[in-house]
Amino acid sequence: MIKLLETMTQMTVPSGNETLIHDFIKNEIKDYVDEFETDPLGNLIAHKKGEGKKVMFASHTDEIGVIITYIEENGMLRFTPLGGINAHYALHQRVKFVNGAVGVVSFENKDDSTIKNLKTSDLFIDIGAKSSEEAEKIIKIGDAGAFSGEFLQCANNIISKALDDRAGCVAMITAIKSIKEHKNDLYFVFTASEELGLRGAKVAANRIMPDFAVALDVTRTGDVPGKLKMAIKLGGGVAIKIKDSSFIAHPYIKNLMINVCEKNNIKYQLEVLEAGGTDSGAIHISGGGVPSGCISIPTRYIHSPSEMINIDDLKCAALLATKMIETGF
Ligand code: CO
Ligand code: ZN
Repeated sequence: MIKLLETMTQMTVPSGNETLIHDFIKNEIKDYVDEFETDPLGNLIAHKKGEGKKVMFASHTDEIGVIITYIEENGMLRFTPLGGINAHYALHQRVKFVNGAVGVVSFENKDDSTIKNLKTSDLFIDIGAKSSEEAEKIIKIGDAGAFSGEFLQCANNIISKALDDRAGCVAMITAIKSIKEHKNDLYFVFTASEELGLRGAKVAANRIMPDFAVALDVTRTGDVPGKLKMAIKLGGGVAIKIKDSSFIAHPYIKNLMINVCEKNNIKYQLEVLEAGGTDSGAIHISGGGVPSGCISIPTRYIHSPSEMINIDDLKCAALLATKMIETGF
């Protein structure tokens, strides 16, 4: 599971480039599902057939990144964010482009206040080119990249880029491999463009029209110094989402999650996230409405290249998904 997480987090998959990770995922789970479909938005849908109600699980494969907007005379690249990046987080990070090129983000130092009020429009990416002609041989307008962030184990925690949401993908893959029995008709969707506004999940849900749905994604924690109180701790177990800014969990799914955790001794905590959303936000208002829930993995420093999760929390998330499927909807 840890090895799988390392491999998956280190892949460069900014929104819009999700098909890059499809062959890898297919190869991991091909022996455990019946068929695959890739839809026009870049969702990978794995179907594990069953007789009962249709259940959709979703975790997003895309990560936050950058897309090139303009190339300066001197060869420096201007960009716009793909997803929620903040200028201070991006400053002096390394960027890996989908085409393999690399660079570093720096800023235009106009005066003493630039750094304080840093905006992404003050930033540029240096790919080592001496001129626009040289830069254009390496990168074209519209090329996308993501920030690099080494995978490290730190006590019982993992530090890496893209744990949002490769951690959810790994939990879902682990569940797919672990299911012993199931009665539902199962759709596991590796969704696209979540970071651009839950776009892939919306389309996938409209295509599948599930009776129930569960997303797997990261959530923030309230256990680091800061003003905003939140009752989620790293190492406190899987988080059962009750509300975020995109949705409120359906009581049936929320209670199913709590009962499954209680019955199988899975450590859990209840989550209310004040700002932020995930795929379940789009899924629950698809079609005529879908009773939905969300399995959250507590994560510190989300959308930085040094996100941190706890290994036991990740195992609890995978186990909760597995046992929900075995219990049935
Ligand atoms: Co995110
Ligand atoms: Zn996410």
